[in-house]
Amino acid sequence: MREYYDRRAREYDDWYRGTGLFAGRSRPGWDEELAALVRLVAGLSPTRVLDVACGSGYLTRHLRGEVVGLDQSTAMLRAARGQAPSARLVRGDGLALPFPDRAFGRVFVAHFYGHLAPGEGAAFLREARAVGGELVLVDAGPRGGPPRDEWQDRVLKDGSPHRVFKRFFTGASLADEAGGRVLHDGYWFVAVAAELTRGPSGGPPGPLGAVGPAPQGGWGD
Ligand SMILES: C[S@@+](CC[C@H](N)C(=O)[O-])C[C@H]1O[C@@H](n2cnc3c(N)ncnc32)[C@H](O)[C@@H]1O
Repeated sequence: MREYYDRRAREYDDWYRGTGLFAGRSRPGWDEELAALVRLVAGLSPTRVLDVACGSGYLTRHLRGEVVGLDQSTAMLRAARGQAPSARLVRGDGLALPFPDRAFGRVFVAHFYGHLAPGEGAAFLREARAVGGELVLVDAGPRGGPPRDEWQDRVLKDGSPHRVFKRFFTGASLADEAGGRVLHDGYWFVAVAAELTRGPSGGPPGPLGAVGPAPQGGWGD
C-alpha cells in the first residue's frame, strides 16, 4: 500500500472533492453525507487523539483536542501538514503504533481498517486497544450492497495500475466487528465508536473476497 498512497497523495482529496479522476462520477448524496461525516468528526469531544493513517489530513483537521496524525506515507504527511497544521504528524506503522499504552483518549481511524486483510484487522484492533481509551472507526458504507470484501484494480492519474483490497460495511457489521456502537450508518460512510477499555471482540473478519474489477461507481478511498 505504501507506494500506492505515496503516488496518490497529491490527488487523494479528489476523491472527497469530486475533482480530477472523480469529476465525472455520479455520486448521489455524496456531498450531504460527507458534510454529515465532517460534522460528526468535528463534534467528537476534544481529547488527546491519535488519527491512525491520517492520509492527507482531510478529516484530521476537524478533530479537536491535542491531535497526533500518523501515516506510513511521507507524501501523505506532507499534504496533512498543509491541511492540519496544528496536528503533530508522525511517520509510522499503524499496525505497530509507536506510543505507550493509554497514551491517547481516543484513537480515530478513517478508511484504513477496511483496507486491512483479516489478520491485520485483528492486529490493528489490538494495537488501538493498547494505546487509546476509545476507538472511532470510519469506513466505507455498503453503497447499495451487502457487507463485502473485494480486490479492486485501480489506475492513478499517472497511469500506474494498483490492486487494492477493500471492504464495505454496514454500521451494524462494523460495530459488530469492532465491538462498538453505530455513530453513522450511511450509504457512503459508516462510523462506529468502541470503548477500548472493555475491548473489541478482535475476532477475525471473514475471508478475503474475490479478485475482480472495481464495483460500479468505481473505486474510492
Ligand atoms: C484510504 S487512505 C485514508 C486516509 C484518511 N484517513 C482519510 O480517511 O482520508 C489510507 C491511508 O493509510 C495509510 N496507510 C496504509 N498502510 C499503513 C500502515 N501500515 N501504517 C500507517 N499508515 C498506513 C496510507 O498511506 C493512506 O494515507
